Amino acid sequence: MDTVAGAMAFITGGASGIGLGMARALAAQGAKIAVCDVRADHLAQAAQTAAQEGWADRFRALRLDVRDRAGFAAALDEAEAALGPLQILINNAGIGIQGPVDEATFADWDWAIGVNLMGVVNGLVTGLPRIKAHGLGGHVVNTASQGAIMQARATRGVYAPTKAAVISMTEHLKLELDAKSGSMVGGTIGASVVCPGPVRTNIEETEQHRPAEFKVETPFRLRDETPPAGALPPTDPGFWLDPLKVGEMTVHAILTNKLYVITHPAFIGSVKARHAGIEAAMADEYLPR
Ligand SMILES: NC(=O)c1ccc[n+]([C@@H]2O[C@H](COP(=O)([O-])OP(=O)(O)OC[C@H]3O[C@@H](n4cnc5c(N)ncnc54)[C@H](O)[C@@H]3O)[C@@H](O)[C@H]2O)c1
Repeated sequence: MDTVAGAMAFITGGASGIGLGMARALAAQGAKIAVCDVRADHLAQAAQTAAQEGWADRFRALRLDVRDRAGFAAALDEAEAALGPLQILINNAGIGIQGPVDEATFADWDWAIGVNLMGVVNGLVTGLPRIKAHGLGGHVVNTASQGAIMQARATRGVYAPTKAAVISMTEHLKLELDAKSGSMVGGTIGASVVCPGPVRTNIEETEQHRPAEFKVETPFRLRDETPPAGALPPTDPGFWLDPLKVGEMTVHAILTNKLYVITHPAFIGSVKARHAGIEAAMADEYLPR
């Protein structure tokens, strides 16, 4: 997209943290903003932010659990009726589930995959045909995690796989959309995947809002605060980013059709170490040549 001004952006989990940072950055450049969220208190806070920053007249807050497919279509209908055709679809809602993977239950997996992966799928299957149909062009943004491209870390074994799937999905989506861009009538459609490192948000509250259907007997709630090898210490001001900064990086990716938004270059040591392990396995003397 050459500009986001006047375009309607629909942001899941957009009433808090990174999603709200994206909403604010897009609104600052003239976009119309629909945020959906499962939490009513977050929606009320987002409405307050829109009013304080002067974009309440091009803002809608909608209650939606991204696992609800019928609800997703209804929320998009409502947003489009109020603000115009969907152009920027941001599948950002996510839960920061943490605990040892060898102790995870079906309930843990179903909740994690239901929100972090199937929530993105629901957005894509429901929203992308709408963007294709109007021909104005647009962009799909999926929020994954930088943790999914780094070395394995204790307690991330359920969360990171959901985010790795979102990265792979977006890589394939962009490949396909780019290949079709020449034959698309009207504007083209881009795709980006946002891979945040540590960002100052409300994600720590994840377990307090675990739905009753996914409650488990065993406490799957451990947290590992150890920074990855070579990373800045958690006390460094550059460690925890402001969500607005991530929002600004996302707007830049939309305007340049950039695939990856990776917020913490300081963690490159962990990415390289993971790749070194993969490359060493491919150089194994027992492989056929
Ligand atoms: N904060 C970080 O350090 C960090 C790092 C990497 C990735 N992420 C990812 O960024 C995204 C945004 O998280 P955040 O850090 O801003 O956290 P956040 O908790 O501040 O915001 C996430 C929002 O999503 C909403 N949500 C949760 N489940 C939902 C559902 N089923 N349907 C609709 N809304 C739902 C929450 O109510 C919340 O308002 C997530 O996908 C998260 O996994 C965050």
